[in-house]
Amino acid sequence: MASRAATISQPSDGGPLWSATESVGCRILVGDELIDQQTAGDDGSVDASRTTRATDAMDHHVIRTRNERGHRHTDMSTTTTATSTIVTTHAVSKVYGTQDNQVHALRAVNTGINQGEFTAVMGPSGSGKSTLMHCMAGLDRPTSGTIVLGGTDITALSERQLTDLRRDRIGFVFQKFNLLSELSAHDNILLPLSIAGRRPDRDWVNTVIEVLGIQDRLRHHPSELSGGQQQRVAIARALANRPDVVFADEPTGNLDTSTGREVLAFLRRSTRDFGQTVVMVTHDPAAAAEADRVVLLADGRIAGELREPNRQQVLAALDDVSR
Ligand SMILES: Nc1ncnc2c1ncn2[C@@H]1O[C@H](COP(=O)(O)OP(=O)(O)O)[C@@H](O)[C@H]1O
Ligand SMILES: [Mg+2]
Repeated sequence: MASRAATISQPSDGGPLWSATESVGCRILVGDELIDQQTAGDDGSVDASRTTRATDAMDHHVIRTRNERGHRHTDMSTTTTATSTIVTTHAVSKVYGTQDNQVHALRAVNTGINQGEFTAVMGPSGSGKSTLMHCMAGLDRPTSGTIVLGGTDITALSERQLTDLRRDRIGFVFQKFNLLSELSAHDNILLPLSIAGRRPDRDWVNTVIEVLGIQDRLRHHPSELSGGQQQRVAIARALANRPDVVFADEPTGNLDTSTGREVLAFLRRSTRDFGQTVVMVTHDPAAAAEADRVVLLADGRIAGELREPNRQQVLAALDDVSR
C-alpha cells in the first residue's frame, strides 16, 4: 500500500471505525481488512433485511402522535410497538486495568434502548457513559454480560462480524465530526455505503441532505465548512444507510450554543421524521431535555431515568445522582 491512511476512529480509544487511504478511489480499510473501493462500489447489492428494518421503523413512526408541546406520545393501541427495544444490555460489566489497578467502569448494567426514540445518556464525568455507549455500539466489548442489538448478540461476534455490524447497522456521530479531509461532503456522506459496496438509496439520501439543509455544501471539503455544517454532514453520513441505531457521543461538544442547538434539532428530527433510533451521550442538560428519555448513570450503574424531561428536571436528577 502506497499512500497514507486516514482513519475515522473513535476519539477516546483510537480504535478504527472505518478508515481509508487519503487517495480515495484506490483502497479502503475496513477494520483490518483492505478492500478495493471501486470493486466494492460496483457490486451494488442491497441487503433486503436492512430495507425491511428501515421500513418497520417508518411504519412505527407513522402510528405515533404528538401532544401540544410537540413531544411524542403514544396511544394505548401502539404501546407495544412504541416500547420495543432495539438494544438490550444484560448484566453488562466493564473492568479496565490490571488486577491491582482495576476500574469498574460498568457494574452489571441492565438497560434497553427503545426503537424510534431519542435517548440521552447522562451522568457525572467518569460514570461510564462513553463505555456503555461504546459497548452498545460494538466499539468495545464488555468484560461480562451480553448485549443484543436488533436480535443479534453482539458480544458473541468475531471482530470481523463486529466491523461489519458497525458498518451496516450503526451510525456514528462524534464530537470532532471525524470527516475525511480529502473527500467532499458528498463523498463523506456516502463513504460507509461505498465501503459496504452498497448502492445508495438516492431518494433517501437526498431527503436526508435536504432535511439537514446541506444541498449547497456537497462539493465542499470539510475544511471549507463551519463546525455546524461539518456536524450536519456527519449526521447525514450516519443516516445514509438507515442504521438500526445512531450513536452520538457529545455531538454538540465542539459547537457554540446556537449551532449546537441546531444540530440537536436535526438529531431530534431524524427520530421524529424518519423514526430513527438515536442514543446520545451528553453532559448538557439542555441537550438532554431534547430527548424522549434520559438514562442516568452513576458510578457504572443505572441511577434512574426520566421521560420527556425539561431542563430543570434533568438538572435536579443530575444533582441527585452526583451526590
Ligand atoms: N481505556 C480505559 N482504560 C482505563 N480506564 C478507563 C478507560 N476508559 C475509561 N476508563 C475509566 O472508566 C470509567 C468510566 O469512563 P467513561 O465511560 O469514559 O465515563 P464518562 O463517559 O461517563 O465520563 C472512568 O473511571 C474512566 O477513567
Ligand atoms: Mg465520556
